[in-house]
Amino acid sequence: MKLYFVLILIMIFPIVLSAHDGDDRDDKDDHKREKIIISSQVIHSINSNYQKDIKPIFKKKCFDCHTSKPNYPWYVNVPGLGYIMREHNREGVEHLDLTNDFPFKGKEGDIVEILDEIVEEAVEEDEMPPWYFKITHWDACLTDQEKEVITKWIESSKAKIRR
Ligand code: HEC
Repeated sequence: MKLYFVLILIMIFPIVLSAHDGDDRDDKDDHKREKIIISSQVIHSINSNYQKDIKPIFKKKCFDCHTSKPNYPWYVNVPGLGYIMREHNREGVEHLDLTNDFPFKGKEGDIVEILDEIVEEAVEEDEMPPWYFKITHWDACLTDQEKEVITKWIESSKAKIRR
């Protein structure tokens, strides 16, 4: 029972954090903004589908730049390359942080906006992974099938959040 409580706390923590992230400047308008409150059951359900279907894709194609503990290849030790990779990682994590699974942290405000941003950048516009990553990782493009899996997961997650 105690463990369950701790787990719920751990799951809620990132949401509380992201609610306080960023927009400090319009603290006064805080009460006007709608806050998304997601129950821990919903988070758990979305996260378990994430871990099963989506995380393996993201791990291969996004984690190098979007987690704070990337698994760099050996050539991170090549002078210059390491610097570039760490810079991409620093910027990538700042925009979208996948380190602690769902709910992700991001620059774009609430979790629904972050999910929309993923569909837009990675599925619709093919902007992610960036071109410079794709030319050095020939298999980094998202396949049509992966795009479909990601889109479906995001659609069903948003439906669960809105319910
Ligand atoms: C080589 C590094 C790199 C890889 C790999 C990468 N990204 Fe990014 N990503 C970035 C950087 C840098 C930014 C911030 C600048 C920009 O938007 O171009 C970013 C921004 C984003 C954003 C916009 C976040 C926002 O709200 O500003 C999304 C969404 C995103 N990435 C998703 C993904 C997904 C999904 C993958 C894997 C399929 C991926 N990225 C792979 C470097 C990367």
